[in-house]
Amino acid sequence: EKVVLAYSGGLDTSIIIPYLKENFDLEIVAVYVDVGQGEDTDYIRQKALKSGAVKVYIEDARREFAYEYLSRAIKARAMYEGKYLLGTSFARPLITKKLVEIAEKEGAKYIAHGCTGKGNDQVRFEVSIYALNPNIKVIAPWRIWDIRSREDAIDYANEKGIEVPVTKEKIYSVDKNLWHVSHEGGGLEDIQNPHNPSMYDIVTPLEMAKDEPDFIEVVFEKGEVKSVDGIFDLVEIIEYLNKIGGEHGIGIVDILENRLVGMKSRGVYETPAGTILYAAHRELEYAVLDKETLHYKEVLVHKYAEVVYNGLWFTTIREALDAFIDKTQENVTGKVKLKLYKGNVIPYGVFTENALYDKEISSFGFSELYNHKDAEGFIKLYGLPVKIKSLKQKYKEEV
Ligand code: ARG
Ligand code: SIN
Repeated sequence: EKVVLAYSGGLDTSIIIPYLKENFDLEIVAVYVDVGQGEDTDYIRQKALKSGAVKVYIEDARREFAYEYLSRAIKARAMYEGKYLLGTSFARPLITKKLVEIAEKEGAKYIAHGCTGKGNDQVRFEVSIYALNPNIKVIAPWRIWDIRSREDAIDYANEKGIEVPVTKEKIYSVDKNLWHVSHEGGGLEDIQNPHNPSMYDIVTPLEMAKDEPDFIEVVFEKGEVKSVDGIFDLVEIIEYLNKIGGEHGIGIVDILENRLVGMKSRGVYETPAGTILYAAHRELEYAVLDKETLHYKEVLVHKYAEVVYNGLWFTTIREALDAFIDKTQENVTGKVKLKLYKGNVIPYGVFTENALYDKEISSFGFSELYNHKDAEGFIKLYGLPVKIKSLKQKYKEEV
């Protein structure tokens, strides 16, 4: 019998290999899904084999991540609780899809993952497995074994002779991919403390950010990013914007978020490219979308972010929301210029043939379409309910 292990090379999944070998009679197929962690995959392959896996898959899923997942994030401008750009949440369903594909190919009945029993990721993996193949059984060692903390895990790794990328001093839990770097745990657990910018991986702390601004141009077609400064591949675009945005200190979020499993948790996220692309997309959308659609999209996107955060990617609600969002994007075509400076993304011009904004109509001068006198009747009817209520009130006071 085989088990497919979601393998990251990190602490949590590293110790699972010896654990599974000792406690289950299963052959371990380790699967590392590359969603832009930027790690040495040869080293990871060797490490998995050395720890006892019989086979290792290294799946390059970066393009799929960019075009099938992050592109949707951008069209929606999906954000959880007003701050979090969902870097981990968008990656989990894609990783699960790869795990299930390989499990089916290998004839494995089990999938194991290294998520703790306290987090969102376990839910995302397992709910997505249910959706894609309900016959696969999950093994979640963190919910079974006696290891209770990251400190215990480090001790266990040392006992089994497994190299760990963290020490007890540097104890943040980090998740890195093309879209973001997340930091949780360690000193962040005290909310009275500011976070320490020295934890940043891809963003330069503001105090040390570049003194000269940079200007960029983002081209959209139907809400999708077509090019940035002459780069056309979305993976490369995101890498480019992470670099240049990072140098300007852009894309840091420090949030106390509500996890799906009930508790609040503090996280610091680095999302420079995401922050820039959302800003560009927003400027263009504000120019081309009518008020009703724009306002209602904002309501739905709030729900969309929750659905993605809560691990419901492979569901009707997610697909239905995406269908709505796609419809709204039909005219989101054009170019946006931005200035990047000291942590800010400053709009620097919107260029589109689809703008509903019209200088002639909106300016205060005379226009055929807008007669100032029309406003009088409009205000009378629009204000009628308010006026009626006020009249009734006055009448009551007088009798
Ligand atoms: N709290 C964030 C989320 O739920 C980030 C989770 C990071 N995951 C991790 N295994 N380090 O999406
Ligand atoms: C984990 O459980 O591995 C990290 C935290 C989370 O999933 O939110």
